[in-house]
Amino acid sequence: MDKLDDLVRADEGLVRREIFADPALYRQELERIFDRSWLFLAHDTQLPNPGDFLTTFMGEDPVLVIRQVDGSVAAFLNVCTHRGTLLCLAEEGNAKHFTCTYHGWTFGADGALVDVPREGDAYYGELDKASWGLKSIRVESYKGLYFGNFDPAAPTLSDFLGDFAWYLDAVFDPQPGGVEFLGGTMRMTLRCNWKIAAENIISDTYHVLAAHGLSVQICSAGRDMQIGVEEGSDLQGQTLSATVNGHGWNANLDGQGQYSLFYDPEPWLKFANASRPRYIEHLGEPRAWFVGSSIDGGLFPTFMFVPGFTFRIIHPKGPDECELWMWTVVEKNLPDELKREMVRFNARMLGTSGMFETDDCNNMENMSKALRGVANRKFDSHYAMGLGHERHDDPTFPGRVDQRISDNCFRGFYQRWQEFMRAESWAQIPLAPRRFTGDNTPLREASHG
Ligand code: FES
Ligand code: FE
Repeated sequence: MDKLDDLVRADEGLVRREIFADPALYRQELERIFDRSWLFLAHDTQLPNPGDFLTTFMGEDPVLVIRQVDGSVAAFLNVCTHRGTLLCLAEEGNAKHFTCTYHGWTFGADGALVDVPREGDAYYGELDKASWGLKSIRVESYKGLYFGNFDPAAPTLSDFLGDFAWYLDAVFDPQPGGVEFLGGTMRMTLRCNWKIAAENIISDTYHVLAAHGLSVQICSAGRDMQIGVEEGSDLQGQTLSATVNGHGWNANLDGQGQYSLFYDPEPWLKFANASRPRYIEHLGEPRAWFVGSSIDGGLFPTFMFVPGFTFRIIHPKGPDECELWMWTVVEKNLPDELKREMVRFNARMLGTSGMFETDDCNNMENMSKALRGVANRKFDSHYAMGLGHERHDDPTFPGRVDQRISDNCFRGFYQRWQEFMRAESWAQIPLAPRRFTGDNTPLREASHG
């Protein structure tokens, strides 16, 4: 049996803990997952003007993202082409040029090498500057979200998302005008493997009442509004977990659970109720009811969201360390006072020292801590909740679906991990059959997934 077959047995709901600790597997992840997945770079609203830039990572590779004069967004390796030191050391800003701190080579915002000290006398005017521009990265966007990919053979971003885009719209395109990223970036280092931080959001609704029980009680004290994941909840018949191409979506359809832990949910409910006709017109039924509902999910491998609480990317930093970069995301049409409240709420709840975040960090870091020895690595973790109860042909919801409290999306995530880790090239990585086109129009002949 191939070692990768043994590490992930999605059809049994088992994952060997070694994959969260082994340095050789981590190296293989950088090459086989991060070097060829579409990875989130930036949202439109983070780079409003030409010359606006931010620095980020794709895997462990440093990346510079810049709004161009023609309005497009370009990305480059954030590495000076002369001898390879980091080029831009700032987190964000606006610039026409980027000058390397080592020998002073200067690059334009379009990546071209524009100035070289002593070009005439020391290089005798013989340096071919056109060949020494910054290394360009493939960029594509969906609904204001820009993604980069190092692999020229990767499918389009639209194909990478597949039918998951149908769900994604409820978060990033709920009504005309879309969303904006607010409040800067909160950053935090976690002493755990990147997949532990990813699975906590891409699938793990189950942990909420145990890990966050006290936080939920404190936030909802005196109110009977349901978060939507309670045992015996009235809302349980309307819950969903869906996995497509390794991406995960876990949600209710009550249109209000997202606000249940807010200090004062009333103004939020008022806004959501007033906006509902526009959500319905823009997204149609039943998708429109995801907006305002409790949701957690994300894109394989590392772009995660809990609308109303956090949007984040997880940057891997070795087999037992990662960084979380977090933003607040709101509808552009939201009143300014509520936008400010959302930034404060996100910092309080799932920000760097937020009360929910600290509950999670403890558990996530303890998973990696427990893997420092050798015995624990040989055992499997249990991801079999709901196994065999999933539906592949739901008439409404695309992907493989189950009720919300289920390990369905975990199995989708780790199966995808295995597919990427096995494949020599993109040609060997399957894409789920589609029911919708790239703009989410149903495909006539494929009414069943
Ligand atoms: Fe950048 Fe030399 S390394 S100019
Ligand atoms: Fe949590």
